[in-house]
Amino acid sequence: MAQQDNLRGPMSASNPGFSPLDSYINWLVRDKKRKVFSGLPREVVEIGPGVGANFAYMPPGCRITAIEANPYMHGGLQNRAARHGIDVEIRSVAGDAIDLDDQSVDAVISSLMLCTVADPARVVAEIRRILRPGGRYAFLEHVTAPQASLLRRIQHGVARPWAWVFDGCSCERDLAAVIRAAGFASVEIDQYRIRSPFLPANTQIAGTAIA
Ligand SMILES: C[S@@+](CC[C@H](N)C(=O)[O-])C[C@H]1O[C@@H](n2cnc3c(N)ncnc32)[C@H](O)[C@@H]1O
Repeated sequence: MAQQDNLRGPMSASNPGFSPLDSYINWLVRDKKRKVFSGLPREVVEIGPGVGANFAYMPPGCRITAIEANPYMHGGLQNRAARHGIDVEIRSVAGDAIDLDDQSVDAVISSLMLCTVADPARVVAEIRRILRPGGRYAFLEHVTAPQASLLRRIQHGVARPWAWVFDGCSCERDLAAVIRAAGFASVEIDQYRIRSPFLPANTQIAGTAIA
């Protein structure tokens, strides 16, 4: 399968940067990001960075290997890296088949990526594969609401229009379970709901998994 076949999400040339909604969501989760991305080493791999929404939280002078197969993101990614003094290397591959060696990196991050990819378990397995023992996966992801909740039923009801509006994003995945099942030595997850009239069905997780 060609790499591009595995990609979903904002692939259009007309969407190469932050929309007002992207900026708003980033602002809403700023404290969660500050916490989960604190204390990262100076070399980090980011899967699906888009145009670099997380660069503001990276240690100054750090080096980021960006696994981003959508070429329309690359210009924005480079501009944002320059603005934050980050040395970025862009690899145009999907997270389903990361072109890095087994146990070769100390830290991997992602945000709002696993809700977009076609096979999240496969991408998490790749993250686990490239991390050294003791290495850290720090994530903030969009997930389904708790089982049997009204919100979960609403999410199921709006799943299809949600995916149309948010470029293929799925609002009904239990990504905490996917990460917990991936064989990490330990996993810590904070589950919360975004309180905003503009995002009525948005539940998320932020956490850390240690390889
Ligand atoms: C909703 S955007 C999130 C971008 C950024 N992480 C953020 O928080 O703003 C989803 C990102 O996942 C990327 N993506 C889509 N399919 C992917 C895959 N199979 N592997 C890795 N990244 C993928 C998209 O190109 C895009 O950059």
